[in-house]
Amino acid sequence: MPMPDTPSSESRTINSPGSPYGSVDPYKPNASADTAVRSMATRIDSLVKEYVLKSETVRALQGVSFDVPEGDYVAIMGPSGSGKSTLLNMLGCLDQPTSGNLFLGDDNISLMTDDQLAEIRSRRIGFVFQSYNLIQQLTVVENIQVPLYYQGKLGPKQRARAVELAEQVGLGDRLDHRPNQLSGGQQQRVAIARSLVNDPYFILADEPTGNLDSVTTDEILALFDQLNEEGRTIILVTHEDDVAERARRIVRLKDGLLYSDEPVEESRRDAARLAQRESALAVKAKQGVS
Ligand SMILES: Nc1ncnc2c1ncn2[C@@H]1O[C@H](COP(=O)(O)OP(=O)(O)OP(=O)(O)O)[C@@H](O)[C@H]1O
Ligand SMILES: [Mg+2]
Repeated sequence: MPMPDTPSSESRTINSPGSPYGSVDPYKPNASADTAVRSMATRIDSLVKEYVLKSETVRALQGVSFDVPEGDYVAIMGPSGSGKSTLLNMLGCLDQPTSGNLFLGDDNISLMTDDQLAEIRSRRIGFVFQSYNLIQQLTVVENIQVPLYYQGKLGPKQRARAVELAEQVGLGDRLDHRPNQLSGGQQQRVAIARSLVNDPYFILADEPTGNLDSVTTDEILALFDQLNEEGRTIILVTHEDDVAERARRIVRLKDGLLYSDEPVEESRRDAARLAQRESALAVKAKQGVS
């Protein structure tokens, strides 16, 4: 099948900033909160990013620290210019910090070369973008396999895995459709399936519902809920409170600093789910009568 060009492409001890959940771990019901040691999807330690321009240096991140345990679901929020995209670029191995440490699993990406970063990016990061970023010439199943193509792994086993993921996101009957034959929500489902194909450290989602109506937003957030229930780690950037409240935790940045890091209570998550469902039902009802 036609595929795009392949992209170019030790660890130190740090003091863990700890869990925002305190001693109670809300989503490991069988583990003792005191003794459970959870693996980290990522550890962000004193992260600084400076952009050096001709006349000035912009400190986009000024020493941000937080951990994301495996299985967490984190919404990153903050005003425009607060450093969200800068942080996301580093989590996605698209850029490196000026100082500080950034661990993905056991790998300290702050110490890596560009080639090593590209390797990690293609093998272990699942990206979901606002604009889906699917390849128009490829079918659903082929789009899901794109990260595997970058690793030189394409065969019946990989295709079977892509079909399985398409089915998991509810597109089992659209395997040979191309993106322009799909709705926005269906295209985002393909992007989510694609993000899972390389068994990522986490799904990194940048405004994943920014282009979607309320009905489809509800569907995509329900899919994230389901994936997180299955143990997938999700890190999502959003400007919308009702999207952030579906996460287990909200991290806010301000002026390149961590402003707050708070768990979202289950009752608040439930209320956000209910509100979204009701708004989606109201839209559906309106469409039904018009
Ligand atoms: N490549 C760059 N060169 C110089 N400055 C940059 C660069 N990228 C970002 N910045 C600056 O770093 C700061 C943080 O930018 P960033 O894009 O991370 O913000 P953001 O929180 O994602 O904002 P938004 O919500 O508007 O997307 C801003 O002051 C921005 O102008
Ligand atoms: Mg941004």
